[in-house]
Amino acid sequence: MAQALVTGATSGIGRAIALALRSAGHRVVATGRNEAALAELAALGIESLVLDLADPTILSARLAAVQERFRPEILVNNAGMVTAPGDFCDMAEADIHRLIATNLTQALIVTRAMAPAMRAQGRGHIFFTGSVAAHAPYPNMAVYAATKAALGAFAQSLRLDLSAAGVRVTEIVAGRVESPLYKDVLPAEARAAMYAGQTAVRPEDVAAMVLAVLNLPPHVDVARFDILPTRQPVSPQVPAAEKSK
Ligand SMILES: NC(=O)c1ccc[n+]([C@@H]2O[C@H](COP(=O)([O-])OP(=O)(O)OC[C@H]3O[C@@H](n4cnc5c(N)ncnc54)[C@H](OP(=O)(O)O)[C@@H]3O)[C@@H](O)[C@H]2O)c1
Repeated sequence: MAQALVTGATSGIGRAIALALRSAGHRVVATGRNEAALAELAALGIESLVLDLADPTILSARLAAVQERFRPEILVNNAGMVTAPGDFCDMAEADIHRLIATNLTQALIVTRAMAPAMRAQGRGHIFFTGSVAAHAPYPNMAVYAATKAALGAFAQSLRLDLSAAGVRVTEIVAGRVESPLYKDVLPAEARAAMYAGQTAVRPEDVAAMVLAVLNLPPHVDVARFDILPTRQPVSPQVPAAEKSK
């Protein structure tokens, strides 16, 4: 049994990963802002940590306190968000800062806090939930794509820093996964249209891959895996928020 920390575990992909890790017998700490969702996880044997990752200035102190009782060997940097899709020229500056803080900076700070102990112990596995938007151009998502591209580049380089110490790093390159990710920024019809013509990947499918990768022998590191709907549009698009009304 290992100790695992999963960020953004209150819904969607992170929740599924936290539950799968718990079912596999690991001690799991889940983070998020949604206290009701964390309480549900607590009832299922998953410890919780209320943490707003959008303000990286407070993170280090919170994480140091966590480490006094908990040293994860498995870290899943999963938390992320989208802002209303649209032309970059119309984007509010505050949304640029929020996306970079929530999707990128916090993952670096959390990793900086947790990775040294893994390196010292000579074992560990760090996952990053990236996106296909990092690896191919997407309209209406320029800053989101930039955060995920930076996360992917960081993951691949970090992997080389940590490989000699026996710590594995995996970038999860997720295609369309049916989750609440767009619930606050697109109306229901627009969200339904995003999933039309395909069977989206389910959060549980991503979690199954994470477990499969974890269960490979220690000398094998899956640097990244792409997980996509089998039947998908050739150019999956995210509609602009204003066009979806
Ligand atoms: N769904 C897709 O098609 C897709 C595709 C590629 C990549 N991804 C990535 O997958 C990851 C998980 O997304 P999801 O699809 O599972 O969406 P989701 O259900 O909306 O989950 C997002 C998670 O991130 C947490 N989070 C967001 N902002 C936060 C903040 N400021 N502080 C702390 N936690 C925060 C949320 O927790 P609280 O609300 O409780 O804070 C929630 O648990 C994200 O990184 C996303 O970019 C998703």
